[in-house]
Amino acid sequence: MKIIICDSYKELSQKAADLVIDRMIRKPDLVLGLATGSSPEGLYANLVEAYREGRIDFGQASSYNLDEYVGIAHDHPQSYHRFMEDHLFSQVNLSRERIHFPDEEADFAHYDRAIEEAGGIDFQILGIGPNGHIAFNEPQDRLYLDTHVAQLTPSTIQANSRFFDSEDQVPRTAVTMGMGSIMKAKEILILANGPKKVEAVAPLLRGDRVYTGSPVSLCLLHPNCTLIVDREAAGDLAK
Ligand code: F6R
Repeated sequence: MKIIICDSYKELSQKAADLVIDRMIRKPDLVLGLATGSSPEGLYANLVEAYREGRIDFGQASSYNLDEYVGIAHDHPQSYHRFMEDHLFSQVNLSRERIHFPDEEADFAHYDRAIEEAGGIDFQILGIGPNGHIAFNEPQDRLYLDTHVAQLTPSTIQANSRFFDSEDQVPRTAVTMGMGSIMKAKEILILANGPKKVEAVAPLLRGDRVYTGSPVSLCLLHPNCTLIVDREAAGDLAK
C-alpha cells in the first residue's frame, strides 16, 4: 500500500483530486466507484472545479456508488443519492444513465454483475468508518463478498447521527457493496482525516496483518491501493 501523509485536509483533497484527474485524463471512460460522507467532500469539490476549468470531462465516465441507506427516500437530505447529487452529479456532465446505486436493483446480486459487465471498477474511492468499516462492511467474524443488506453497528449509527437530527433517525440497515465487490477494483484510494480516524487508520500504517475486525485492513492485500491521510488521523504512527 502506498501511503501519503498530508498536513491538512486541503492538501489531502488536492492530492486525491490529482490522482483522479490523472486517471480520468488517461481513460476518459473511467468506471468510478464512489463513496459518500465527509472524507471525499473536498475531493469532489476539486473535481467540480477541474471540470469547470475544462481539465476533465465526465462525458464518457460512469459511476457505481458503494452504498445507500434502506428506508429513506432518495431526495431525503441524508440519502446518499442526494449527497452525490449535491456534491458532484448536478455539477458535472456525468450522464444519468451511467450513474448507479446498489439499492436500485431488485436483485442486489445484479449490481455486482452490472459492474463486471461494465468492465469492473477502474478507480474505487473509499472513506473509513471510525470502527474500520468500508462501505457498510462492519467489523465482524465473517465479511460478505457481494452486494448485500447490512445491519449498521451501534458505533456506526452513533457516528452517522451527526448528519441527522437525532440518533433515532439514522437508518439501521443499508445496501452495500461487499468486500469482494470492492477488492475487485483495479485501483483503490482510501481517504481518512481527523482525530476520530486514528484507530481505524492504524492497521494500515502498521501494515503487518489483516483481520475481519478491521475490514479496511483487507485493503493491505490489494495490489494497487493508496492511502491518503492527514497527520491527525495518522496520529503517533505518522513519520
Ligand atoms: C459512505 C461509506 C462509508 C464512509 C465512512 C466514513 O459511502 O461507504 O463507509 O466512507 O463511514 O464516513 P466519513 O467520511 O463521513 O467519516
